[in-house]
Formats: sequence, structure tokens, C-alpha cells
Amino acid sequence: GLVNSKELFAKAVAGGYAIPAYNFNNLEQLQAILQACVETKSPVILQVSSGARKYANATLLRNMAKGATEYVKELGYEVPIVLHLDHGDTFEICKECIDNGFSSVMIDGSHHPYEKNVELTKQVVEYAHKHGVTVEGELGVLAGVEDDVVAEESTYTRPEEVEDFVKRTGVDSLAISIGTSHGAHKFTPAQCTKNADGVLVPPPLKFEILEEIEKRIPGFPIVLHGSSSVPAEHIETINKYGGKLDAAVGIPEEQLRKAAASAVCKINIDSDGRLAMTAAIRKVMAENPGEFDPRKYLGPARDALKVLYMHKNNNVLGSAGKA
Ligand code: G3H
Ligand code: 13P
Ligand code: NA
Ligand code: ZN
Repeated sequence: GLVNSKELFAKAVAGGYAIPAYNFNNLEQLQAILQACVETKSPVILQVSSGARKYANATLLRNMAKGATEYVKELGYEVPIVLHLDHGDTFEICKECIDNGFSSVMIDGSHHPYEKNVELTKQVVEYAHKHGVTVEGELGVLAGVEDDVVAEESTYTRPEEVEDFVKRTGVDSLAISIGTSHGAHKFTPAQCTKNADGVLVPPPLKFEILEEIEKRIPGFPIVLHGSSSVPAEHIETINKYGGKLDAAVGIPEEQLRKAAASAVCKINIDSDGRLAMTAAIRKVMAENPGEFDPRKYLGPARDALKVLYMHKNNNVLGSAGKA
């Protein structure tokens, strides 16, 4: 069956790696995630956003995720699977997911004033813990788009708040803001410097804030949202085959490796998967203009996703072999 995040996070913090949290909205994404995690023997967090619930229907999605535990058995290796609500913004949506078999939820109260965030998060924790469900809270605001909320600039997490927040709410993990952001366009070229190979290098994450947080809540599970790296090869393929994406820069994998070695034990990646799928579909469409069987382009998209996720587990998060 599905598991909550408690034990997985404890092991990940102790072991210096991070569990992948991959979003899914459809069958091919779910298959790719599960195939990759079985092949790399990695625990996995399946994330469902509000947008995913609207797009794919909440009932269908959660039943697909429940089927996931049988599917990995068929694939030959039972990796632990967490079904997690991504960016829950009200008590009601968290409750609905808890009542319907999710093993973990995020209550994202980070846009509220501090006391309101504490109150809302605490309410969700009280309900969730009665049902054996773990809760992720958030302090600090990421730049970029979080569902309907657009923040121009990030407000980094204030280390002086984390201990009080964790104590008063009882959350199981804490998402923080140290310079990551959602989407494919995390940094403009103007915000970057160029390295010797002409590659755009974005400003580094605020590891000094992470260290300060770790000092205040030692060993407490930390979560990083907005952790796509935006691979240049996918942007190039998309643009080569008729797409039009502006120069896009993500979080360098080296930075994520460093984060994964710390108390960061959950790393959220969605945009990289969107880019990998889109690149694969554009390529098939351009090279085979007569193709009209969805399996002929969604299949290659699924394969590209699987390659991406295996790479993340093996080379970035360090979660491979931990299941
Ligand atoms: O944090 C956002 C995730 O990438 C999910 O995106 O709300 O468009 O489904 P979404
Ligand atoms: P990316 O947009 O960087 O993939 O972040 C995804 C995320 O944080 C989902 O909650
Ligand atoms: Na870690
Ligand atoms: Zn997020």
C-alpha cells in the first residue's frame, strides 16, 4: 500500500539524500515515474496538484495512484510510494485528500501572515495525524507562479521563525524558500553570469539560510520546491522542432546535489518533465507528420520522462538504491 513520508524522510536525512517528488496528471507520467523508480530502486512521492485534480479528475487520479502499488509489484520491485497533495491551499482540500486515501498533504500557508499560517497548518496537522497522514508546511515565498498566486520576488524563509513554526504546528516537514522558484523560467539571462564554456550560471541558492535553519531545527526534514534544472538539450529540441521558448535557466544539478546531502529530504520536480515530454512529442510530430495515433507520440514522451527521472534518482538526488 501507500506509505506516509515519516520513515522515508528520517532515512533520507540520515543518509544524506533526497526523495524525488514528481508531479503527475496523466497515465504516461505515472508510468514513467514508477518505471524509473522501480528500475533505480528509489522510494517516490507522487504529487497531485489542485490543477492536476481539475485536469484529470480527482477520483481517477487517486485510483491510478492506488493502482500504482500493484503496478510496481508487477514491475518486480515494491518501492515505497507516497501519494501527496501538492500545494493544498485550504483545510478543506487537505481534508478531502486525507479522507480519500492520500498518505501525505502539503498545506501551503506561506502567502498568509505568520500567525494565520500557523493556525491553518496546525488545523491540518491535527486532522491529518488522526488519520496517519503526514503534513508538509511552508515558510517563505518562492518567486514565480504557485497556482494562482504570482510572486515577483522571493521572500526567503526567516530562520528565526522555523523553530516556533515547527513546534506550534506539529508539521512533519518544512518547505523553505532559498532561491528556487516554480516553472521553467527561474532566472533571466540578465540575472546570470557566463562560465568559461558560455553556459549561463544563475545566482547560487542561499545555502547560508539553509545552514541557519538546520542549526535551529537539527535533523528536521526540509523540502525544496521549484527544483527543476531546465536542461538546455530539451529547450533546444523544442525550439528545433517548431517550439518557441525563451532562454530559460533552472537550478544547476550541482546545487541540488549539495542540497540533497543536507537535511533537504524531498525535492520537487515538475517543469523538467514537462520539457522532456514536449521535446519528445515535438520531435515525433515533426519527423512523422502523418502520425495520428496518440500512443506513437505519448509513448516516446513517456520514455523520455523515464530517462529524465532515472537520471535524477541516480545522479542528482541520490535516492537510487534506497528502496
Ligand atoms: O508547483 C507547481 C507544480 O509544478 C504543479 O503545477 O499547479 O500547474 O499542476 P500545476
Ligand atoms: P519546478 O517548476 O521547478 O519543477 O517545481 C515543481 C514544484 O515545486 C512542485 O510543487
Ligand atoms: Na538529504
Ligand atoms: Zn511547488
